Amino acid sequence: MRITPSILNADFANLAAEIARIPDADAIHVDVMDNHFVPNLTIGLPVVECLRRVTHQMLDIHLMIEDPDRWAPAFAEAGAESVTFHVEAARAPIRLARALRAEGARASMALRPATPIEGFADMLDEVDMVLLMTVEPGFGGQGFLDLVLPKIRRTRELVGSRPIWIQVDGGVSLATIERCAEAGADTFVAGSAVYSADDANAMVGALRDRAVAACRH
Ligand code: DX5
Ligand code: ZN
Repeated sequence: MRITPSILNADFANLAAEIARIPDADAIHVDVMDNHFVPNLTIGLPVVECLRRVTHQMLDIHLMIEDPDRWAPAFAEAGAESVTFHVEAARAPIRLARALRAEGARASMALRPATPIEGFADMLDEVDMVLLMTVEPGFGGQGFLDLVLPKIRRTRELVGSRPIWIQVDGGVSLATIERCAEAGADTFVAGSAVYSADDANAMVGALRDRAVAACRH
């Protein structure tokens, strides 16, 4: 069970300090938005390059951008250990996944809440992670969409024995993480839940404990 907090709700003027608040995180989730694929604009490659210099923690880049075929490999080249592109935006997802792996990164595909996994089942051997959005991408602090839970279950079945991580992103909190874990997710993005907590690192631990407990049931 991995907790990968999103820095979208952190203080962008103090990112190094904000990352240092969560030493127990399994990765730092960085939301890159271009105001085309989603109606919001955040940070891009230059900031990721700077983050690489100030942390040894795993960088988990979530690209919510058009034309990831063109932009994604540079994030791997910059030293990000994991790069996620959206299947709805990629023109040649197989070629792109292979390019990311060739750069030494984990390749990951993301699906918006209404995108079925079945159309991408044949791609599973090309990726190291599947990110299932549990809100419409674009903003932190939105409500968790329970309608994605059956897709988490179907993805877990399709993944079978492959060592592919299943990540959920959007509205994950102490109130919703158990449902995701029971359905088969093993990697959890939490933005507002972590960065609105007084002790962000303690929240990382609490989220992980709850996910682990949910799986023991
Ligand atoms: C939303 C982003 C998420 C978001 C998560 O488009 O991809 O990573 O920041 O934030 P919360 O946990 O607040 O939904
Ligand atoms: Zn994200």
